[in-house]
Parts: sequence; structure tokens; C-alpha cells
Amino acid sequence: MPEIKFYKHDPLPMEMHKVKIVQKLNLLPAKERLEKMKEAGFNTFLLHNGDIFMDMLTDSGVNAMSDNMQSAMLRADDAYAGSETFYRMRDKLEEIFGIKYVLPTHQGRACEHIIAQRFVKENNCVIMNYHFTTSKAHVTRLGARVEELVKDEGLIEKSNLPFKGNIDLDKVRACIEKEGADNISYLRLEAGTNLIGGQPISYENMKEATDLAKEYGIVTVLDASLLQDNLYFIKTREESMKDKSIREITRMIADLFDIIYFSARKFGFARGGAILVRDEEMFHSMEDYITMFEGFLTYGGMSVKEMEAMIIGFDESMDMDIISQGPQFIKHCVDVLDNYGIPMVTPGGGLGAHINARQFVDHIKSEEYPAGSLVTALYLCGGIRGMERGTLSEERNADGSERIASVEMVRLAFPRRVFTLSQTEYVIDRVKWLYDHRHLIGGLRFVHEPKTLRFFTGRLEPVSDWPEKLVEAYIAEFGEDQ
Ligand SMILES: Cc1ncc(COP(=O)(O)O)c(C=O)c1O
Repeated sequence: MPEIKFYKHDPLPMEMHKVKIVQKLNLLPAKERLEKMKEAGFNTFLLHNGDIFMDMLTDSGVNAMSDNMQSAMLRADDAYAGSETFYRMRDKLEEIFGIKYVLPTHQGRACEHIIAQRFVKENNCVIMNYHFTTSKAHVTRLGARVEELVKDEGLIEKSNLPFKGNIDLDKVRACIEKEGADNISYLRLEAGTNLIGGQPISYENMKEATDLAKEYGIVTVLDASLLQDNLYFIKTREESMKDKSIREITRMIADLFDIIYFSARKFGFARGGAILVRDEEMFHSMEDYITMFEGFLTYGGMSVKEMEAMIIGFDESMDMDIISQGPQFIKHCVDVLDNYGIPMVTPGGGLGAHINARQFVDHIKSEEYPAGSLVTALYLCGGIRGMERGTLSEERNADGSERIASVEMVRLAFPRRVFTLSQTEYVIDRVKWLYDHRHLIGGLRFVHEPKTLRFFTGRLEPVSDWPEKLVEAYIAEFGEDQ
């Protein structure tokens, strides 16, 4: 959707829907939020949703469904085997992606588990533009490693480059030559790189990277979980694609890959996942994993109601009016905060607005988790739950030392069709207040540290009484009841 013009002021992002069902929000006073944060071990994943005002943790499984999605749920065909719902889903995916073999799974990481089980061998390497936490964990669990070959510019937080998720083709070739093609399990491209700010990858780069992989006989895999945002960016930022429809662009992308998988908690606005496999033999070689780990081949652990909803959601993901809204809200949030001088990842990408925590709280050392500390402070000062995406989300090196993340960010996710502009303005306001009081934020340390994916369930404590002092300053500004 092009921006809607206003008579009296600059364009604003516009909701292209009306609200039919609402959920009441709860804004706890700051002192109560401090108590809840202590109970949650200073880990925002362990907060209860009822204690959160603006849940911007993720866009995963929390996107709003449309009326058409809800009504489609009524026609779900409950059957352990051979559900008509599955065949409708399979046909819709074939219509959109042109791939007829579909393996259903319960969510995105289940796809990653199965693809890794099928292709990864010990000491192998998987080439990616950038990793996602679960996509990497499934590879390393099997004794292989990930080579992240995003172009250097992708890691520069502030720029106006349109495709910061692009992979560096020279590095890909050098990596293949060094490792030997037989030792590379697959090339995985993530369309809309989650961990570096939802930054997109261009069609041209996907084409060149997959051509290179094919030259060496390497399997090509697309993680399409964030494809809908990436499609918007290709259409609006890639000159050669601007006259193509979203459906045409999707098919051109799909034609490049042997395997496409996605989390339908994102792509499809519902909850589930699927692996699309081009080659029949390859498809059969993966079926057993579905029946072993997910469920029967016609539901894969998903509820058939969700599957019916996502069939409509796939079509909605091909609608430019619908997929424009997220990136436009994110751009608004990023641009206003950037104009305030707050270190944001620019340009705004998909999925959420990303704050450069390393700069925001540059007095906190990496070992005390700047992004983790900032995310804690944001909950205390506004009831906003963002997600830490930095050193806390990394796993330690083999010698026990911290692996310092190359990018230290806080993500404020914009679940699709969920928040209004006034809620977005509230978030902007509280981030600005926090920036002006950033010297009050201190670090965190672990008191319980799981070995794998520690950010999900680990418990922490502040290194001083900074949370109390921060809350005091907040109350002095906004009053006891906010
Ligand atoms: C790019 C990407 N791939 C895979 C996943 C994993 O999907 P899920 O959360 O459904 O397991 C996510 C989830 O956030 C993601 O963003």
C-alpha cells in the first residue's frame, strides 16, 4: 500500500483493517512491575503476559487473525489421517510456491530439526547469511557448525542500505573451496534476517547465492518465516522488481530453492509450520522424521483449525495492503527515535524496531548484558516487553568464556495487525524517556544459567540496586499509578 496522503501533516502509517475483537490490557504501576521482574528472575521470557502492557517480545504466534481466517477454522476436517484440511493447505502452498511436496510440522524449529537431522553430518558446516537461534542450535547439536557469511555492511547498525541481509558471494565461494562442497550440509538463506534487525535480502542476491550453490551441487534451503516482510522490501526497494506482483516475486524466489520451510507462527498469521520439498525422493527421505517427531503426515502436530486459518493467511501474505503495514509502522517508530538521536538500527526492517543496546547503554560491559539490561529497564519503565538479541542469547565458548555477540540489540517486535499508532507513540515516548535517563541502567548477571538457549529460562539478578533507583526516577516523572 502506498502511504496515504494527509491534508494537514506528513503521512502516518495506516491500519488497513478495523477492530472487531479486543483484549483488555493491564498497565501495572511501576513498583508492581519491579516486583514482577524480580519474580521473573530479570528474564522477560519468564514474565506473565497479564503483567505486561505492550508485549513486543515477538511476532511469533501472536499476530492478529482476520475475520476470514477465523471463519475458515469452522470448516476444519478433523482426521488423524487424510484430513481434507491438509490437502487444501498443500494445494494452496503449491499454488503460491509451485512446490507440490509438503511436510507439516508443529512450528519453525521443528522444520529446522528435521532438515538438520536429514542433512547435517558431524564436522560439517552449514552456510547461512545469518543464523537464527534455533536454526543454529539444531546444527551445533549434531556436531557441525554454522558459517555466517552476511556482507560486512549487514552488521553496521546505522546505514541506509536497502538489503543488509545479503550474503557475501566471495565469502561463500571461499568457504566452499576451503571446506569442500561435500562437507557443506546446505546453504540456508533467511529472508528477513531476524537477528540483525529483520533486514531483507534481495532477489538478485538470493539468485546469485543459489546459483553458486548449485554450481557445487549444494542443497539450497530458504527460511521463509519472515518472507512477507522481505517481499514488501523487494517490491519497494529492488528496482528490477517493482513492477512485479507479490505473487510473481514469491514464485521467482521459490524457483531458486530445493527446500523452503517456514514458521507459520509468522508466515500465515497462525501457529504451525511446514517444509516444502521440490524433489520427490528427497521428500520421501524426510517423511519418517515427521511421523517420528511431529505427528501423522497430514497434520504434523498442528491443529487442523490452525491449518485452515493459515491457508487464508497464506493468501493474505500475498496482499500488498496487508504486508505493508508492519514495515510502515516499524519505519515510523525507527525514524522518530532516530531523529531523537537514539541509536537505532537503520533503515527500519521487518519484524520490529531494533535498538542498538551497545550504544544506548555504552557504560554496561558486554559480560553484563547491555541488551538484557535495557530490556529489563523497558519493562520497568512502561510495561513494555521487548526481546534481548545479543550476548545473553549466545551460548558460551567451549572454555566457558562469554561469546560476545557481534550485534547487541533490543527488538521491539510489531506483531502484525495488533498495535495501533497511539500505542506505538507510547512506546516511542517511553524509549525516549529511558534514553534521557540511561545512566540509571546497570548490568545483570546469571544466578541460574542453562547450557542451551539460556535466554529462554535462565534467571538473573542486577549487579546493584539500579532497578530500584530507576523506578524511583520514573515515578518522580510519571507518578505512582503509571
Ligand atoms: C527466521 C526464523 N526462523 C525460524 C524461527 C523458528 O520458528 P518457531 O518459533 O515457530 O519455532 C523463527 C522464529 O522466530 C524465525 O524468526
